[in-house]
Amino acid sequence: MKLIILNDYDQASEWAAKYIRNSILKFSPGPERYFTLGLPTGRTPMGCYKKLIEYFQNGKVSFQYVKTFNMDEYVGFPRDHPESYHSVMWSSFFKHVDIKEENAHILDGNATDLQAECEAFEEKIKAAGGIELFVGGVGPDGQIGFNEQGSSLVSRTRVKTLANNARFCDGNLSMVPTMALTVGMGTIMDAKEVMILITGAHKSFALYKAMEEGINHMWTVSVFQQHPQAVLVCDEDATLELRVKTVKYFKGMMHLHNKLVDPLPSVSK
Ligand code: GLP
Repeated sequence: MKLIILNDYDQASEWAAKYIRNSILKFSPGPERYFTLGLPTGRTPMGCYKKLIEYFQNGKVSFQYVKTFNMDEYVGFPRDHPESYHSVMWSSFFKHVDIKEENAHILDGNATDLQAECEAFEEKIKAAGGIELFVGGVGPDGQIGFNEQGSSLVSRTRVKTLANNARFCDGNLSMVPTMALTVGMGTIMDAKEVMILITGAHKSFALYKAMEEGINHMWTVSVFQQHPQAVLVCDEDATLELRVKTVKYFKGMMHLHNKLVDPLPSVSK
């Protein structure tokens, strides 16, 4: 597992965006060969999406041959509500780049058969050749997507009952979704690479659990210790609960890890 420590949120966002850009370029996608990207919503990835839009506008990356699969979506929530994950993804990212609508896959929380929707999502990922890079955010309790505490670490895409999402809908409890569809931990673990964005002091305990303690279903983020290609991208604030020794070790590797986001020859031209 690589731990990338940047000074602040903006730098972490930029590093992550460059990593995604380079992954797409290295893959060299085309009409017969799509790059498959797993994506999160939430506040954390917004800075990264902004940067990706900038790279697209400057001709540094294209999403024409990219297929995306989003992590999660609320159940029974109007798709056009500004807080539905569909709305958030389209307004903050997809509509600003050249991705084709049919290639941006988001679970349909209004499907009549939710179980069938989840199974079909897994099939679509398989048909696309699996996910090359799954990008995720993490909750302060270590949850990935809606894989809350106690979620099976080999779970697949499924319907989940939600415990605590009152932060949405201005705290209007009657509007707060109580169920969601989410990819499973097993779905994410199948990706060739996983990159998790962890920023802010309120995520520091989750980062500590992810890095310095054992794998445990109460902190689903910890499962990536078992992934052969996992990258955690964080800011200084998120490292507050880590041992100084851990932080020093990974900071000492930054000169190497930064090479991963150097502009590729095709970009620096
Ligand atoms: C919840 C959501 C995730 C999101 C996470 C972090 O767990 N289900 O999709 O990644 O919160 O959200 P934020 O980035 O807003 O802190």
